[in-house]
Amino acid sequence: MLDDRVRATLDRLEREDADERARGVPAAERARQVARTTGQFLFSLVAPQADCEVLELGGSRGYSTIWFGAGVRHLGGRVLSLEHDPRKIAAWRTNIAGAGLEEICGLVEGDAFETLPAIDDVFDIVFLDAEKDDYERLFELARTKLEPGALIVADNVLSHEETLGAYSRARQADPTLESVTVPLDRGLEFSVLLR
Ligand SMILES: C[S@@+](CC[C@H](N)C(=O)[O-])C[C@H]1O[C@@H](n2cnc3c(N)ncnc32)[C@H](O)[C@@H]1O
Repeated sequence: MLDDRVRATLDRLEREDADERARGVPAAERARQVARTTGQFLFSLVAPQADCEVLELGGSRGYSTIWFGAGVRHLGGRVLSLEHDPRKIAAWRTNIAGAGLEEICGLVEGDAFETLPAIDDVFDIVFLDAEKDDYERLFELARTKLEPGALIVADNVLSHEETLGAYSRARQADPTLESVTVPLDRGLEFSVLLR
């Protein structure tokens, strides 16, 4: 639920992001967080589901994690976020605590290519928001943690179409998935695992 602590933390992260962009801080040092409307969309996706298990690849400072965490808090569930940048990890922990979501959101520190294979869980939703060149390999790794009916959401497929157009085409051509590009903000590829 979007209580005062969640709202205040999201608002602050949005102000910090806008300020860093205005000052021309290099992308690698910024949060690179999703747009607020994408956050609201992710929240609406998980809030109606009971016991929703979310895997997030690319946690950054926790902005999208907070939207997911606030969403799954309604009917139960957990968010597991993977992040390897030590500065982002520290900020993630501060922000999740500030939002009051430590009981719901967990962080696995390290390179997702090393940490993900060792995670012994099954997830309902995977949010793919790491480096664009890695989406294909991360998708294949994440797929081993899913059962039919699971949803994989990949961000930036329209903003980085030159890199991620191939990702969308591959998902849409795969008969074991139903996949569609949702033209919200930077573009989200929605892929439901059929079998
Ligand atoms: C676009 S940002 C994520 C933004 C975040 N989802 C949000 O909306 O608040 C991408 C993040 O993925 C992290 N990342 C990239 N490759 C990674 C990897 N192989 N393992 C773990 N984290 C990775 C980066 O350090 C960065 O913080």
